[in-house]
Amino acid sequence: MSDLKNIHREYNSKLGNKLSLEQINQIKTELFGKNGLISTQFKILGKLSESERKQFASELNKIKEDLQNLISQKLKDIELSSINEKLENEKVDITLPARPIIKGKIHPVSQTIDAISSIFSEIGFSVEEGPDVENDYNNFSALNTPDNHPARDMHDTFYLDDEKKTLLRTHTSPVQIRTMMKDQPPFKIIAPGRTYRSDSDQTHSPMFHQVEGLHIDKNINMGNLKGCLNYFIKEFFEVDKIKMRFRPSHFPFTEPSAEVDIGYEIKDGKIIIGEGDKWLEILGCGMVHPNVLKNVKVDPNKFQGYAFGIGIDRLAMLKYGINDLRSFFECDYRWLNHFGFDPLDVPTNYRGLSR
Ligand code: PHE
Repeated sequence: MSDLKNIHREYNSKLGNKLSLEQINQIKTELFGKNGLISTQFKILGKLSESERKQFASELNKIKEDLQNLISQKLKDIELSSINEKLENEKVDITLPARPIIKGKIHPVSQTIDAISSIFSEIGFSVEEGPDVENDYNNFSALNTPDNHPARDMHDTFYLDDEKKTLLRTHTSPVQIRTMMKDQPPFKIIAPGRTYRSDSDQTHSPMFHQVEGLHIDKNINMGNLKGCLNYFIKEFFEVDKIKMRFRPSHFPFTEPSAEVDIGYEIKDGKIIIGEGDKWLEILGCGMVHPNVLKNVKVDPNKFQGYAFGIGIDRLAMLKYGINDLRSFFECDYRWLNHFGFDPLDVPTNYRGLSR
């Protein structure tokens, strides 16, 4: 009996020390191994008288349990401290950039969209969005382009079902409809986004980008449209003087309609905007047709305004000197590395749109 108490005392104090994993395992074997101190005590049990055995057994079990608890507590402590040690040593300071710094680049089209949004926001336009998958009504009918209207053929539409009810939007103009349906006038919005037509060559891609503009209020006229576009082109190309030409055109959803060209020349292989005698078409526009306003429950006798649709990719090509539209969508990493922008170089009016 006194043996048992001694074992308990001795190992209790041993286990009170700071121990390594090996030391704990060693103690475990010393106590509970085949010939361990506790294991041998169990062998004694059989040799005792019944009354002694009962008392000894209960004592022995208590001590065994106590030592086992101590050991498992020790093991838990070790596990915890090794986790803490790992956490401490393998700490990654996420406030520091990874080295070497490999930075992604912003695609010129995204950069152009940011620049356009920034310019228009300065004169009170907010940004709206619409889905790429549109219905026939928003893309055509509501825009005063009924079934069998010749303008539908010009759009080379990708239809998504046999009944021609859903399609990939052929322009951003359906966002005019969506915006006016969900709100009350006045409206002053731009809507940049992807558009789709079944067409592909050096200057056409089946997916391209447009930015729609819509300004509806009381007493809005062609002069406002001209002023707005004039301001935009100057800001976008960062020039003081531009040459702009309105050519009469036709869109079912505007009346009158015009296409706008900007004047440019090529000097030493570089394109110069605002000089020379060459013209480049960059957008379609006009005064919103009364039928369109009626379709969205806006009274054309009280409200009127203008709309425009600008080809974003074309503007980006001009501004950044990129001559093949298709290179925008080839996902060539080397190309993006060359023409792309620093992610922190977000275009703003006050800091400048380009570097
Ligand atoms: N949606 C026309 C197009 O894609 C452009 C446009 C928009 C013209 C708004 C007039 C007004 O060609």
